[in-house]
Amino acid sequence: MSIQPRRVENVQTDKGSVPVYATGIVEQPWDDYSATDHDVWKQLYKRQRRLLVGRASDEFLIAQDAMGMTPDAIPKFAELNSVLRAATGWELIGVEGLLPELTFFDHLANRRFPVTWWIRTPEQLDYLAEPDLFHDLFGHVPLLMNPLFGDYMAAYGRGGVKAHGIGPEALVNLTRLYWYTVEFGLIRQKDGLRIYGSGIVSSMGESIHCLESPAPNRIGFDLQRIMRTRYRIDTYQKTYFVIDSFAQLIEATEPDFTPIYAHLATQDSIPAGAVLATETVFHRGTGEGWSNEGDV
Ligand SMILES: [Fe+2]
Repeated sequence: MSIQPRRVENVQTDKGSVPVYATGIVEQPWDDYSATDHDVWKQLYKRQRRLLVGRASDEFLIAQDAMGMTPDAIPKFAELNSVLRAATGWELIGVEGLLPELTFFDHLANRRFPVTWWIRTPEQLDYLAEPDLFHDLFGHVPLLMNPLFGDYMAAYGRGGVKAHGIGPEALVNLTRLYWYTVEFGLIRQKDGLRIYGSGIVSSMGESIHCLESPAPNRIGFDLQRIMRTRYRIDTYQKTYFVIDSFAQLIEATEPDFTPIYAHLATQDSIPAGAVLATETVFHRGTGEGWSNEGDV
């Protein structure tokens, strides 16, 4: 039996009953991980790495190796931090689970990435409704080694603090940006479409679905389009947005969002699976052959 996170209570929200955790920073209780915990890490790590070669962005795979992550055991945050701090000034902090928005934004703005310290059970290998250590550490942390992506994440944190002060509609817009980039983003490499979103790289099914299924839309990155697009948390995504580079992401998100939020307040939201008449959809394969398929 492994140790349990300090779950304070569950609260009802529009997303159902969600757990609320203690929000302080916790020391990673590495010595207390059980053999089962390490084995879950090992199985998931091996399975995903096998799947991600040729599917995840080169940047992601290179960074993961450079950090010293291996399948052998759950990594120690302190060891990863010595590499990460030297590379981009980011550091991992241990947390019990999902944080309140403002707390989360403040950590990011100060280059602290919160990582859930506990890992899922063997029965939950394929799906877990909330982030655990595997999602956070395997999925999110490697790209913090990339200077451009690291800057984007810190800027997102600063933008989050600001949006929080503006109001709930601005936060909805900004959260969609996180969802469609940090969690579910695709990138076009010279040899084809690749994954960089953490929600995808930590999921076996979605790693295949996002690139190889004919079902989802793959649309070029467009800031305001993304901020208007609703999303589903209970199924694979119906739409993925594709960036050309992390530099594009930085550049597109550099302007002050305040007037954009005001403008978007006058616009309808877009359903998760919709394609606008003017949009170009990429189907599958190598990243070549964008074609306008209209409303598919
Ligand atoms: Fe995440």
